[in-house]
Amino acid sequence: MTKAKYTVTAALPYANGPLHLGHVAGVYLPADIFVRFLRMNDHDVAFICGSDEHGAAITLRAKKEGITPKEIVDKYNSIISKAFTDFDISFDIFHRTSSEIHHKTSQDFFLKLYEKGKFTEETSEQYYDEEYDQFLADRYITGECPKCQNPSAYGDQCEKCGSDLSPTELINPTSTLSGKAPVLRTTSHWYLPMANHEDWLREWIKEGKLDGIQQHDPKPWRNQVIGQCMSWIDGGLHSRAMTRDLDWGVKVPLPNAEGKVLYVWLDAPIGYISATKQYAIDNNKNWEDYWTGDRKLIHFIGKDNIVFHAVIFPILLKDHGDLILPDNVPAYEFLNLEGDKFSTSRNWAVWLHEYLEAYPGREDELKYVLTSIAPETKDSEFTWKEYQTRINSELADILGNFVNRALVLTQKYYEGKVPERGELTEEDQLVLAEINEIPKRISKLVYAYKLRDAQAEAMNLARLGNKYLADQEPWKVVKIDPKRVETVMNIALQITANLSIVLQPFLPATASKLSNFLNFKSTNWENAGNGDLMKVGNQTNTPEILFQKIEDTIVEAEVNKLKNIEAMESIFDAQKEEVTFDDFTKMDIRLGTILEAEKVEKADKLLKLLVDTGLDKRTIVSGIAAHYSPEEIIGKTVQVLMNLAPRKIKGIESKGMILMAEDAEGKLSFMSPEKEFEAGCGIH
Ligand code: 2FM
Ligand code: ZN
Repeated sequence: MTKAKYTVTAALPYANGPLHLGHVAGVYLPADIFVRFLRMNDHDVAFICGSDEHGAAITLRAKKEGITPKEIVDKYNSIISKAFTDFDISFDIFHRTSSEIHHKTSQDFFLKLYEKGKFTEETSEQYYDEEYDQFLADRYITGECPKCQNPSAYGDQCEKCGSDLSPTELINPTSTLSGKAPVLRTTSHWYLPMANHEDWLREWIKEGKLDGIQQHDPKPWRNQVIGQCMSWIDGGLHSRAMTRDLDWGVKVPLPNAEGKVLYVWLDAPIGYISATKQYAIDNNKNWEDYWTGDRKLIHFIGKDNIVFHAVIFPILLKDHGDLILPDNVPAYEFLNLEGDKFSTSRNWAVWLHEYLEAYPGREDELKYVLTSIAPETKDSEFTWKEYQTRINSELADILGNFVNRALVLTQKYYEGKVPERGELTEEDQLVLAEINEIPKRISKLVYAYKLRDAQAEAMNLARLGNKYLADQEPWKVVKIDPKRVETVMNIALQITANLSIVLQPFLPATASKLSNFLNFKSTNWENAGNGDLMKVGNQTNTPEILFQKIEDTIVEAEVNKLKNIEAMESIFDAQKEEVTFDDFTKMDIRLGTILEAEKVEKADKLLKLLVDTGLDKRTIVSGIAAHYSPEEIIGKTVQVLMNLAPRKIKGIESKGMILMAEDAEGKLSFMSPEKEFEAGCGIH
């Protein structure tokens, strides 16, 4: 039978921040396991990913950090791709949507649909920020969600209830640039009509049929994927703008489209195609082979990406006409962290790159835990306590213990050589039968995208080995029946060799260590299940400890790190509303020197200061009398907000403000520079 060919994609992460464990557990790790398994089963497979470098996610982040979008995507592309390499996610290519080949591919794709008449050009009134001279689509606008009343829904989506929104649906819309209410202005865009696609989509998603021909087996499609798509389609598919008025993105390749770029959700999935093109160029292959003919296209994604991959991109692909549609869209629910949602803005996260730096060599441990708790069918949770328990009592006590016993006893009794098998008892036969069955069960589960159960099944082989040795007690029997022990140890080594195969998709580094211990390597899944992999007389090596136990101190330190974040949030006010870089630069802050200080009559809290600001000598009234006496602050270098509008305080005109730090108890302190500075030096 010819093997199915696969193109497997993992959602392109936005290059606007690092990856956290939620991303890893719900997209990249399952995709990697699936692909490793396919490769072992001789499927022709390309594993495609890259960073998503357009859209408001990027430009808003750039504004926040006060650097250009290009600098943002370069910075995070490098952090993300290094983390993937260090975590050994085995992409065939990790590409970028800012690349030339991607811009060209997206433009060609757009033009093809345009020339086929698949878009309509529509003029409409859209929100506009007059201060910033910019139309406000997607994340450039926030307001109240009309469906769940979340006060900070975005112009494209409410993150609280998951509704897909358009800016004009928001109640009390506000520009995220100026913070002001927007006005309406006329603009024209190219829209993708979707209403006429409802019927075929229903049949294709629910039954796997396209134009009456069976395209895919609908069975392994997850209920939540089918459910979300159906409810979206049942709500009526409205035309969707495929272009935006922005300057960061792929330029619309039409005359008179100045200042317009492709909608990020049009160019991002085309990123899978452009990445494949680059992969083909690098490896002397034809990219079309991965997007046409008899090939399965699989998109691993998070649940917030479902409609884009299972409805909109398939419409685009069908309209395009030359390319295959996805065979499955395994979408994951969300992973939470210690009782709360992962949150980048609150720093409530375990960042992948930080984990890899803190715990080098413990990649497989993290992979094991994340797959064990993967949010396959419902949201799940990562806790450091469970991380410890799963490593200590499963990886170390079961897998590590079994492998160690099997190899150490082989060293002790036979100087590491595989002993001969004698007559088999009923237990031996049962164990050999189970060795044969387990890989088949894993295989079935992986093809059904049940990777959590598949890994548990692989661990069952280690459990079987552990129990077999505990029941057979070779360390006791060796004194009375050494021949029998040869059989037991031979079988224990067959289990270990099988583990070195079936663990490869899940724990590749561990599987490779087992191969080194055994002097046996097979990357062919077909060999799994064979009870005679280790040949009599073959030399094995003394093993090292596979998994170091996780000490309580690690769990405590990690939990404390998170508790500190929580504590800071409750002691100090929550972060104020976002300001733009331009807002920030409006403030003129400089160093000044206090020349004179005196108490203000009938005002316990106030001191009247004369401050040398470098520009002038001015009077500032400051509320610091409870914290400093006038005498002790003369000559101090302080931070001065220069351009605060002058105010009369107790009849004295105060020009500017002294900036102070305030601790949790409300004690104020000056923020003086580390070294001596002249009055007038700027603070930026
Ligand atoms: O949600 C996200 O993080 C998007 N950057 C995913 C894009 S997937 C694909 F379409 F590129
Ligand atoms: Zn909502």
